Amino acid sequence: MKGLILSGGTGSRLQPLTHTLPKQLIPIANRPVLCYIIDALQHAGIDEIGIIVSDKKELIKKKIEKEHLPGVKLTYIVQDAPLGLAHAVKTARPFLGKSDFVMVLGDNLFEEGLDKALKIFAEGRFDAVVFLIPVDEPQRFGVAEVKDGRIISLAEKPANPRSNLAIMGIYIFRETIFPAIDRISFSERGELEITDAIQQLINMGGRVAPYMFSGWWLDIGRPKDVLAANRMMLSSLSRKSKKGLFTERLSQNCFVTPSSLISGSILQGPLIIGENCRVADSYIGPFTSIGNGSFVEGSALEGSILLENVSIRRVEGIILNSIVGEETEISGRDSLQNGMKSKTFLLGAKSRIYL
Ligand code: TTP
Repeated sequence: MKGLILSGGTGSRLQPLTHTLPKQLIPIANRPVLCYIIDALQHAGIDEIGIIVSDKKELIKKKIEKEHLPGVKLTYIVQDAPLGLAHAVKTARPFLGKSDFVMVLGDNLFEEGLDKALKIFAEGRFDAVVFLIPVDEPQRFGVAEVKDGRIISLAEKPANPRSNLAIMGIYIFRETIFPAIDRISFSERGELEITDAIQQLINMGGRVAPYMFSGWWLDIGRPKDVLAANRMMLSSLSRKSKKGLFTERLSQNCFVTPSSLISGSILQGPLIIGENCRVADSYIGPFTSIGNGSFVEGSALEGSILLENVSIRRVEGIILNSIVGEETEISGRDSLQNGMKSKTFLLGAKSRIYL
């Protein structure tokens, strides 16, 4: 059994962050999303993992190599263009060979639950197992129709969904998926859709089982999802820190790396502060992650994520539910121009400021 993580795509809903950082590298509790998926695969006994990447291969490789991921063998597979999930699988064919494989979308975070699904796949000798979860707005997702323990139809973002069962983004396949992909064509949005490929597999006589997922699951497609994932992971840090993945733990679930200096500040966890940070005369509130090399002075933060090398100085009020990209500087000093308070910005494309 191999693993395949899809880390291509454009991540347009997370711009401007994704101009420089693929969304799968966005830190959740100071660890790239991809690492949690690799952990989950390894936990299920899968050590040989292919990662589909776009033109940002070198960046992804460099960031992942810095992480604590013992015993895993990673292969990076370049997808020339984001032409759909089934196109990504097709691109990975030489890596996958004749092996069965678990495929996970690289922006999915979930409570580990792969073991049971792998058992269903092996014992039922299914061609595929698709993870499903009930949702309130199935129109926003790929939706599956289930009958007598089998998936009988799938549709991508249907106007009139046949069920409330969303396709999460975790699948188990065997090599029978390849001939099915070979028979589908590009959808209206110009992609080779995995839902079409699975439907084709069913039409060709393939047996596809649902796996009803009951843990928590987040797809970090939008900024609010990233913040929700960060809250979720920070809440469970105290359990995970036992694995030695994280940093020194202070009171109230405050995880602070010893190389960081904290002075004259109030820290209220759960929170995490990375390496070589300085926090002075500030309040760092619950559900905040501060990336390596960041500097916070005379400011208040809560429910926010600072990426690496961010500098925040003397900002009035509280910075709440914000995501601040790497090497960003926010300085709160207003200057006076003709008697009016002025503010100065240097912002990249698609930045968002809420004053
Ligand atoms: P999506 O969230 O559907 O697409 P996206 O990443 O381009 O984001 P946005 O809609 O904001 O522009 O992709 C789901 C996952 O699959 C994500 O981790 C990226 C990955 N992916 C690929 O690896 N190759 C592809 O061709 C596509 C479409 C997605």
